[in-house]
Amino acid sequence: MEGGGARGCPALPLASGRSIPVLGLGTSHQGGYSHDAVVHALQKCGIRHIDTAKRYGCESLLQKAIKESDVKREDLWITTKLWHSDYGYENTKKACLESCERLGVEYLDLYLIHWPDAHVPGKSNREVRAETWGAMEELYEKGLCRSIGVSNFLISHLEQLKEDCVITPHVNQVEYHPFQRPQELVDYCRSRDIVFEGYCPLAKGEALTHPSIIQLAEKYGRTPAQICIRWSIQNGIVTIPKSTKAERIQENCKVFDFTIAEDDVEILNGMHDGRHHFLCFLGTFRHILPVWVELSHSIVIKFLLLAESSEYSGSFLKTAAEGRV
Ligand SMILES: NC(=O)c1ccc[n+]([C@@H]2O[C@H](COP(=O)([O-])OP(=O)(O)OC[C@H]3O[C@@H](n4cnc5c(N)ncnc54)[C@H](OP(=O)(O)O)[C@@H]3O)[C@@H](O)[C@H]2O)c1
Repeated sequence: MEGGGARGCPALPLASGRSIPVLGLGTSHQGGYSHDAVVHALQKCGIRHIDTAKRYGCESLLQKAIKESDVKREDLWITTKLWHSDYGYENTKKACLESCERLGVEYLDLYLIHWPDAHVPGKSNREVRAETWGAMEELYEKGLCRSIGVSNFLISHLEQLKEDCVITPHVNQVEYHPFQRPQELVDYCRSRDIVFEGYCPLAKGEALTHPSIIQLAEKYGRTPAQICIRWSIQNGIVTIPKSTKAERIQENCKVFDFTIAEDDVEILNGMHDGRHHFLCFLGTFRHILPVWVELSHSIVIKFLLLAESSEYSGSFLKTAAEGRV
C-alpha cells in the first residue's frame, strides 16, 4: 500500500452486528467512472468499502475492477441501492438478486432504499415504503443482505417505518458536508441506533474553494478535501468521497494520521447554510435564484423525483436531478 492510504480506517458497529468502514469510495453515473481508479483504490490505497447503486449503472464495471484487484470478497464492504422503479415487495427481491449478479457477489454488505418517494400509481408512498421494507427485512433475514438501510429519509419517513415495520434501518445515507449538516436528523438516527452515512462530503468539490476550509487546510498542512473528510469522520459520520483520479483517491484516504482540534471542528460545524449540493448544477443561475435559503429536504426530494419521472422531458431539472442521486 502506498504511504498512508486507508490503513487504520476504523469501522462503526451497526445494529446488524456488522461493522462498516468509516471511509468508502463513492461511485456515480455523474462525473464518470474509472476502472483504473477503482483498482488503484483497492490495491494501492487500502480502500475496502465501495458505495454504488443500480442507478449509477456501474455495478457490472465494479465486478471487473474488484476481480482485477484480487481483494477477497470477505475483506470488502459493498453497498448498493434499490432504485424507485423497483420498489414493492416482489420487485425489491428481484432487484437485489440482479444487483448481486451484476456485482458478481453472493451477498451485499448493505442494501439501501435509495429514496423515500416512490410514485406508484394508486398507492401512497408510505404504503410502498412499508411493502419495500418488508422485502428488505426478508433479504436481511435470509442473509442476502447483511445489513439494510435507507437513503435520503427524513425523521417523518423513519417514524412511519417504525410504525409499519419490524426492523429498524441499520443505516441512513444522507447528504452531509460543511454546508449541509442536518444535525437534528443525525441526532434522531443516533437515538435509534441508525448509523448516519454522509454522501457528497466535498459538496461535489464546491467546499474545496471555500476560504475558511482553505485556511484550515493551510493550518493543518493538509488539503481542503482531507479537511472535509476528516471533519465528517470526527463527527462520527461514515463518509464516501468519490473521485475518478487515482492521486485524489490517495489524497482522500490520508485522513487517519491527524486530528482537527475541537474549536476548528466548531468552525466547520458553523458553516451549515442548508444548501444542497445539487444546486451546484444550477451554475450561474444559483446566484440569482432565491434558493440559497434553507430548503426543505422533502421539497428537494419531490422536486428531483418529478424531474426523474419518465413523463418529464425538460432538461434543466433533469440535469439537477442527475447530480443528486
Ligand atoms: N444516496 C444518494 O442519494 C447519493 C447521492 C449522491 C451521492 N451519493 C454517493 O456519495 C458519493 C460521493 O458523492 P459525490 O460524488 O456526489 O460528491 P463528492 O464526493 O462530494 O465530490 C465528488 C467530486 O469532487 C471531486 N474530487 C474528489 N476528490 C477530490 C480532491 N481530493 N480534490 C479535488 N476534487 C476532488 C471529484 O472529481 P474527480 O472525479 O474528477 O476527482 C468529483 O467531481 C457518490 O459517489 C455516491 O456513491 C449518494
